[in-house]
Amino acid sequence: MSLARTHILIISLVLLSLLFLLASQTNHSPTLIASALTSRLLFAANFYISPFSSVSSSNTCLVLDSESNCTLSSVTAVETAHANSRKDQERYNRIKKLSSCDIFNGKWVADNSEPLYKPGSCPFIDEAFNCFKNGRPDSDYLKYKWRPIGCQLPRCDGGKMLEMLRGKRLVFVGDSLNRNMWESLVCALRDSLKDKSRVYEVSGRQRFRTQGFYSFKFRDYMCSIDFIKSPFLVQESKFSDKSGARGETLRLDMIQGSSTKYCDADIIIFNTGHWWTHHKTFKGYNYFQEGSHVYNKLEVKEAYTKALKTWAQWVDANIDSNRTRVFFRGYSASHFRKGQWNTGGSCHGEMKPIASDTYIATYPWMMRVLESVIAEMKTPVFYLNITRMTDYRQDGHPSIYRQREIPRGPGMFQDCSHWCLPGVPDSWNELLYATLLISHYDFTGK
Ligand SMILES: *[C@@H]1O[C@H](CO)[C@@H](O)[C@H](O)[C@H]1NC(C)=O
Ligand SMILES: *[C@@H]1O[C@H](CO)[C@@H](O)[C@H](O)[C@H]1NC(C)=O
Ligand SMILES: *[C@@H]1O[C@H](CO)[C@@H](O)[C@H](O)[C@H]1NC(C)=O
Repeated sequence: MSLARTHILIISLVLLSLLFLLASQTNHSPTLIASALTSRLLFAANFYISPFSSVSSSNTCLVLDSESNCTLSSVTAVETAHANSRKDQERYNRIKKLSSCDIFNGKWVADNSEPLYKPGSCPFIDEAFNCFKNGRPDSDYLKYKWRPIGCQLPRCDGGKMLEMLRGKRLVFVGDSLNRNMWESLVCALRDSLKDKSRVYEVSGRQRFRTQGFYSFKFRDYMCSIDFIKSPFLVQESKFSDKSGARGETLRLDMIQGSSTKYCDADIIIFNTGHWWTHHKTFKGYNYFQEGSHVYNKLEVKEAYTKALKTWAQWVDANIDSNRTRVFFRGYSASHFRKGQWNTGGSCHGEMKPIASDTYIATYPWMMRVLESVIAEMKTPVFYLNITRMTDYRQDGHPSIYRQREIPRGPGMFQDCSHWCLPGVPDSWNELLYATLLISHYDFTGK
């Protein structure tokens, strides 16, 4: 098991205990939470400012910037222009309803529709997420759909989504859980192509774990879907001193260097979370650095807050919000039982989502920090609040099917933090699809 792997997997139980420790210390007043909620709801409706009146009949764009340029091209423009039929009207009403609905508040319901791509059909899924190929025998975990209270999510239509992304660059920036979501999106979009050879990874790689940058191109849409590894969002710094002793710090005041590679993307989806419970981070001794100062000891919560503020300042200073849509994907829940990842913790044998809210964890302190940081930014950031929806899905992890090797003895580590693909991250992409769809309509004053 690689060191990086170790880092990623170590977190989960530590986090759970942290939640309990720190939940009592969070100092968010009910008013603050209420106002954060309000601002997010406003975002849902107003995230894409799209003056309907400026759409001319010759323009295929519904979303225009101040220069009358397309910011997101529209596949629905033609349909809307002829939006007289009842079907179009129903569709319009459905999406309108979505725009005022909290799509993250809901339930998983049994659903018999096919996954967005067939198990085992997509060549771009890392072995560690490819439960079907690794022999997972049960398949009920593929048969749940996320159902928000008060609205219905449209099924992700890969062809339509690609049309929305025509000429665009969408970049995932974050840790291996964002890689999980990225692979899910690439596979969902790929499935809509008649000729599957029209999508390729630019470096020609078949595995997507080790490098810092990967890019999938969809030739016929001049669109790219990229992943940039940046587990902390801020910069890790490795050095060796004169005696040759090696050290490592985390620069809380410096955005990770790869940021120049994506600041001009059209859509960016950030995340960070699981690495902040890494033992070394957690203990926080001689690890966190600002300028030339290395803290002897800094609480991880304080360090995380500083790092997110560094990220927020960078976004506000470098992202042109007239061009680039910024998303932040929230904390994805883990389900290690009876131990940690390396002490026999397991989720093997779970075949159903958690049914009772009693067993759902407290909302993570990291996400409370995130909400308060986003609330102070001038760039609109759409928060994909997926913590709770993932918390139900104890059944969706690779567990022992994270690898093909047999035997899978009792001593083997289980993966109860990433997700099988197809699986739970497909739903995150359906939520992303829904927010993009909303962008094609304007509901203000209607
Ligand atoms: C679109 O934006 C570019 C600059 O990004 C500008 O040169 C061009 O004139 C704009 N097009 C329209 C139709 O305004
Ligand atoms: C975005 O467009 C608005 C309206 O033209 C303008 O006032 C604002 O400065 C622009 N923002 C950025 C970040 O360029
Ligand atoms: C995100 O979801 C949690 C429930 O899991 C909720 O407590 C929190 O307020 C939500 N945040 C926002 C900004 O809606």
